[in-house]
Amino acid sequence: MDELIAAARDALDAAHVPYSEYRVGAALETADGTVYTGCNIENANYSNSLHAEEVALAEAVKNGHREFERIAVSSGVRDGVTPCGMCRQTLAEFATDDLVVACDEGGDAVSEYTLGELLPNTISEGTLDDATANAGDARDIGGD
Ligand code: THU
Ligand code: ZN
Repeated sequence: MDELIAAARDALDAAHVPYSEYRVGAALETADGTVYTGCNIENANYSNSLHAEEVALAEAVKNGHREFERIAVSSGVRDGVTPCGMCRQTLAEFATDDLVVACDEGGDAVSEYTLGELLPNTISEGTLDDATANAGDARDIGGD
């Protein structure tokens, strides 16, 4: 049994899901091997719900980690779970394209992807650097 998947499965027990009843657990392994977990925490104002992956990432970042090796994701349903688009983008703020995303398929079955596969051509800090440079050019060109 993959230990990171086991940690994600443990984490989903703490999920607060009165609305969807869909539990998600995530376990994020940092470059030094520390593991931070998260679960989804729903809210009566549905759009305020926190996703398991962002809770795990927030905990890791709060503790000073900026480099990540792998994230495991599990759901109470136990198959077919992958990080949503928002979580892929949230992970991409710190993780590189080669972050391994391990998705629990139940039993010993795990589907592995890289973040680059799940979110190609993502917006990043570098994208905004280019935009800032372009904005500077535009001002230079536009101002007489
Ligand atoms: N959910 C996550 O925690 N992570 C994802 O990336 C997919 C969706 C949660 C949000 C909500 O509480 C429930 O799953 C149903 O969408
Ligand atoms: Zn998500």
